[in-house]
Amino acid sequence: MSKEKIDPKRLPKHIAIIMDGNGRWAKEKGKFRIFGHQNGVKAVREVSEGCAELGVECLTLYAFSTENWNRPKIEVNALMTLLVKTIKGETATLMKNGIKLDAIGDRNTLPKDCRRELEEAIETTKGNSKMTLILALSYSAKWDIVNAARTIAQMAANGEITIDEVNEELIDKTLTTHKYPHPELMIRTSGELRISNFLLWEIAYSELYFTTVLWPDFRKEHLYEAILDYQSRERRFGKTSEQLA
Ligand code: FPP
Repeated sequence: MSKEKIDPKRLPKHIAIIMDGNGRWAKEKGKFRIFGHQNGVKAVREVSEGCAELGVECLTLYAFSTENWNRPKIEVNALMTLLVKTIKGETATLMKNGIKLDAIGDRNTLPKDCRRELEEAIETTKGNSKMTLILALSYSAKWDIVNAARTIAQMAANGEITIDEVNEELIDKTLTTHKYPHPELMIRTSGELRISNFLLWEIAYSELYFTTVLWPDFRKEHLYEAILDYQSRERRFGKTSEQLA
């Protein structure tokens, strides 16, 4: 799948990815699950670089969900260690490629060292402007929506807003994703056809792309394939084809 076929004028500004299939990839090779996560880092690198080269403005990766805390402790610990190591090891590359790092999710639940590395990398890369890489860590869309509802309820209780002022715009502004445009394209790897509590509000009109490729095997060519598929679709936002023409 060639990169040249992609129309640079119709690129999604924001791509979100559910990186799935690390465990199965490792199992196929007779290895422990963490081996799959370790090899998933290469795909993270490829996709970040691929998006930055094309001119995609934001890339959000579902790295660890609220529900992932329920995995065996040994896997959770190994994933956190891998995250710390990866964030630390990749900061120089992020700087070289002009990529700004950000995170969504409940940072308070992350182990101290993970949170520290994350915040240091966010601080170091904050001046970069080529692309923003957003890690969803200890994130779930329902967690974000519940927090937004609480914040808005508190504002109403304080008399800062009236009930009539609760609208889409206010909810948008209150979610942790408020700094970024909603993703036009969401990709899930590994053949699972689910959203798994990821960006539920923000994907109201996103194009969904599912591939059977397991995350550790995902490369730039798969990214190009997803973008070309996105560009072949007619985005109607509830209107008719005739209205769009
Ligand atoms: C899903 O595969 C993957 C994860 C829960 C973790 C993703 C993490 C990485 C790729 C590591 C590094 C990431 C960053 C951003 C530095 P799974 O374990 O659910 O696979 P399975 O469905 O085959 O069991």
